[in-house]
This record gives sequence, structure tokens and C-alpha cells, in this order.
Amino acid sequence: MPVEEVAAFAPGRVNVIGEHTDYNLGLALPFAIAEGVTVRARAEGGDGGRILAIASDLDERDELMLAAPGPAQGWRAFVHGAVAELTAAGVPLAGGVLEISGGVPQGAGLSSSAALTIALCLALIELGRPDDVAPGTLPLERVELARLCSRVENDWTGARTGLLDQLASLYGAPETALRIDFASLAVVPVPMRLQGCRLVVADSGERHVHAGSGYNERREECARACRLLGVGSLREARPERLSELPEPLVRRARHVLEENLRVQEAVAVLLEGRPEQLGPLLNASHASLRDLYEISTPAVEATVRRLLDAGALGARIVGGGFGGSVLGLIPPDLAIPAGCLEVRPGPGAHLLG
Ligand code: GLA
Repeated sequence: MPVEEVAAFAPGRVNVIGEHTDYNLGLALPFAIAEGVTVRARAEGGDGGRILAIASDLDERDELMLAAPGPAQGWRAFVHGAVAELTAAGVPLAGGVLEISGGVPQGAGLSSSAALTIALCLALIELGRPDDVAPGTLPLERVELARLCSRVENDWTGARTGLLDQLASLYGAPETALRIDFASLAVVPVPMRLQGCRLVVADSGERHVHAGSGYNERREECARACRLLGVGSLREARPERLSELPEPLVRRARHVLEENLRVQEAVAVLLEGRPEQLGPLLNASHASLRDLYEISTPAVEATVRRLLDAGALGARIVGGGFGGSVLGLIPPDLAIPAGCLEVRPGPGAHLLG
């Protein structure tokens, strides 16, 4: 019996620390959040070669043939890209109706794009699953699926993002952050024992689109720094050689190297049960993202100040930057400040029902 109906959920993510390190083969510490994107798919009669995609929240739709997904804009680019990349990877697909709904604010730095791509891929994979394959079986390793979803974003939407969001969404687990080493792609679970502290996000209200923001420019600057230093990635760069770089590359590279060290410290304080010590690390990360990596904006700065004034132990911009959300660490005795959303590590991407 072909699969008639399926629903897939993929979460967004929050990155505790380790920003703009993924495409520099460094370290990060994200977790999957409860908010995410759901794709409900149902098989369609007829010759089966057509996809009708409906973005319920936007009240928009799109139609494409499985055999010929062409270039597209906005959310449609993710649907076309997912179909094209799964087909190129030899994954069998079937036509049908895809209904997309989601609770991750777009462009808020919580990885709505990766959640959308992964939920689409999981739904498409299950809808096209051959009869002799057990339900829920992935035709490729999770890390390969993460790479495939990243190609959708890079090649179909023009955002040259790294693997942070996809790995966080695919490997997420309750009460767990993930220490990801982007050089080896080792994903190590780190128990999030916050001992009464809470993590919140506050929306700066400013939206970003990676393809059009300074994100790709930052990535290019890091690549230029590598060429000048004669290394394959900033992970291999030696701190004592950074002063050979011209401005602003020297500051970009310094951020990346120091941010990797902060990830290691953050893992240590969590494992040693000193969660309040995350506060100064968040503040140091933010100062570096603002002054060295230069991805903050006045609206983000105002949001960071608002959280710190309200009593947060630390606050920093989260995600690609140039707008989006701010992550704050709230001490046990303080109420969640108004307008903030508490975020906790939740399960990774999965089929529903
Ligand atoms: C965005 C990208 C990620 C990562 C972060 C910054 O979320 O999608 O790959 O580079 O920005 O850490």
C-alpha cells in the first residue's frame, strides 16, 4: 500500500553559544526548541507526478511537477529545492499535497528556514517510501540529510549558510544541547542542567533574509582570511598569526577563534553545574559579535540592553545576525521579562502520529 497520509515536524533552534563558527569548521552549542514547522502530506490521485504545496499561514500555494522543479522565490524555493535535491540523491518521491504550517517566526534568528526544509524533506521521503521499506526509515544518514537540506538553502535560496541549523533540528533531544564540532561533524549531547535558570528569546522586531544581508559577505571575508593565512579553514588558523591580516579580516578571524574557546567553556560550566556562569560567556559572545564580527543593529542592541536591565545574567544576539532575536539567561529568582519567550531543548525532527 502506498503511503496515503503523513505529517512531519522539524524544530527551529536556539544556539547557546558558537555563532558564525559553523562554516569556519569550529564549534557550537545549539538545541532544538519546541517551536517548529509541520508539513502534512497526502497522496494524490492522477499520474502522481504533481506536488501542490500550500503555505497555510500565508494563504499561498504553489504547484510543480516532481520531474521539473525550476527556480522559485521565497518559501516556494524551499519546496522546489527539496524536491530537486532529494531526486538528485536517488530518493523515490510521490506526488501529493503538502500543507505547511509553522510556529517559528521567519527571519527571527531561530532557524525557520532549516525547520521548513527538514519538515518538507521528511514528509516527501515518507510519502514516497516504497512498500518494502519500514515506516519512518531515512534513506540516508542524518548527517547526509543535513547536508542535503543545507544545499537546498545554499543553491536554491542563495543563502550560503552552514550546517548549524540543520544538525540542531535533526539531532535535537529534550533537556539536551548539542556540542557540534563542524570539522569532524561529531555531535555530542550535553545535558542542559540550568538549576532554575531559564533561557529566553526576545525578538528585536527586525527581520533578516540571509541571502540579502551581510551574512554572505561575512562568509566571504572568512574565506579571504583563510587564503591570506594559507589555511583551509579558520579552525586551522593560529592565533599568533591573526595580526598578519588586514582590517576587518583580523577582527572577523579573532571572533571565530575566541568564540570556539567560549563554546568549550560553556560546555564545561554546564557539565560542572555552574549554569549562571553562562551569563558572562553570553555577554562576551555578544560583544564580539557586535564589535569584531559587526552583525548587530540598533534594534538588537536595544533588546540586549532591555534584557540586561531586567536582570538577565547575560544576553546576546542569536543566529545569523543583522536583526533577529536575542537570547537571555534569566536567574532563578527573576520572573520572565515581558515579551520574552522561554526556550527549552525539545525533540529533534520526527514524523507525527
Ligand atoms: C545562520 C546560519 C547558520 C549559522 C548561523 C550563525 O543561522 O543558517 O548556518 O552560520 O547563522 O552562527
